[in-house]
Amino acid sequence: MKKTIAVVAGDGIGPEIVSEALKVLKKVETKFGHEFVIEERLVGGAAYDTAGECLPMETLETCKKADAVLLGAVGGPKYDALPGPKRPEKALLGLRSGLGLFCNLRPATVWAPLKESSPLKSEIIGEGLDILVVRELTGGVYFGEHKRADDGQSASDIMAYSIPEIERIAKMAFEAAMKRGKKVTSVDKANVLETSRLWRETVNKVALDYPEVTLEHMYVDNAAMQLVRAPQKFDVLLTENMFGDILSDEASQITGSIGMLPSASLRLDGFGMYEPIHGSAPDIAGKGIANPIATILSVAMMLKYSFGLENEAKSIENAVLSVLESGARTADLGGTLSCSEITSLILAAL
Ligand code: IPM
Ligand code: MG
Repeated sequence: MKKTIAVVAGDGIGPEIVSEALKVLKKVETKFGHEFVIEERLVGGAAYDTAGECLPMETLETCKKADAVLLGAVGGPKYDALPGPKRPEKALLGLRSGLGLFCNLRPATVWAPLKESSPLKSEIIGEGLDILVVRELTGGVYFGEHKRADDGQSASDIMAYSIPEIERIAKMAFEAAMKRGKKVTSVDKANVLETSRLWRETVNKVALDYPEVTLEHMYVDNAAMQLVRAPQKFDVLLTENMFGDILSDEASQITGSIGMLPSASLRLDGFGMYEPIHGSAPDIAGKGIANPIATILSVAMMLKYSFGLENEAKSIENAVLSVLESGARTADLGGTLSCSEITSLILAAL
C-alpha cells in the first residue's frame, strides 16, 4: 500500500517524539511491504518563527492533499503573549476545522503492566480500564463567536450546535460502542443549557438505530465525579467539544500515564489527523526524555483507522505491550530510559 502522510511535529517535545514515531512507521513499512511518503511541514510556534503565522497556508494544503496527518504538539511559553487568533493553539483548531475532523477518539486505557501508575485505588481500577472518549471536535463554544465588548468590560463566547452536527458524532459513538462494550454514556448539561437539551433529544433519536447499545445520559459534573468514583461503569463517553476536552484530560490521568495516550481526529471518509493527547511539555523539551509511546500508538491508530491496516496496528501495540512488560520505562513512568532508548526496544520487539 502506498500512502502520503503529512507530518507536522510542531513545538516543544513535538519534534523528538515524532521523529521516534517515524522510526516505527519506517519499520512497519519494510516489515509489511508498504510505502509511506512523508511530507514534513511547520505548524504552531515553529511556523510562527519562520513564516510569521502558526498555520501557514502551505501546511494546511499539504495536510489536505495527504492521506493522513501525524501531529506532535503545539504551543509554548514563548508564544503565550500572542493575541488569541495568532496563538499556536489556533493552528490546531484551524487544522481540525480546515480538514473537517469532527470526530475525536481518545481511548483511555490502563495498560496491565502500568496498573500501579494509576492514582486510583486498585479496587476501583479492577481488572483494568478501557474507556473511549468520543468528542465532537469542530463545533460548540470553541467555534462560536468570541467577543470582547468595545469598552472592554464584558466578553462572550457563543456555544451553538445543529442537529446534523450532533447526529454525526452520536453515530460515530454508537458505531464504536457496537465494536466494544455496547454502552454509550452521553454527557451534557441539559439541566441548564439549551444546546444540551438539543444534544440529548438528538442522541435519543440516533439511539433508535442501535437497539443493542445501552444508552445513558449523564450531566457533565456528575460524569467528572463518576470517572474517579466508578470508572468501570464507562465504555464509550460521548461529549460535545469542551466537555470532552475536560473529561478526556481527567480520563487520561486515571490511567496514570498521559504520556501513553494517543488520539485520532476523523471525518467520515476515513481521513484523519493523529496526535498524542499530551501537549508540548516545554519544561522537558530538547532533553530527549519525553515518552514517545503516545505518538507511536497514534501511528498505530492511523494505520488502523485511515489505512485499514489492522494487523500492522496490532503489531505496534503488541510491541509496546511487550516492552512495558519487560519493565522498560521512561521518566514520566518512574524509569530512566530516554525517548530514543525506549523506541529502540519497541523497534526490536517489532
Ligand atoms: C486538546 C487541547 C486543545 C483543545 C487546545 C490545545 C486548543 O487541549 O487537544 O485537548 O482544547 O482542544
Ligand atoms: Mg485538552
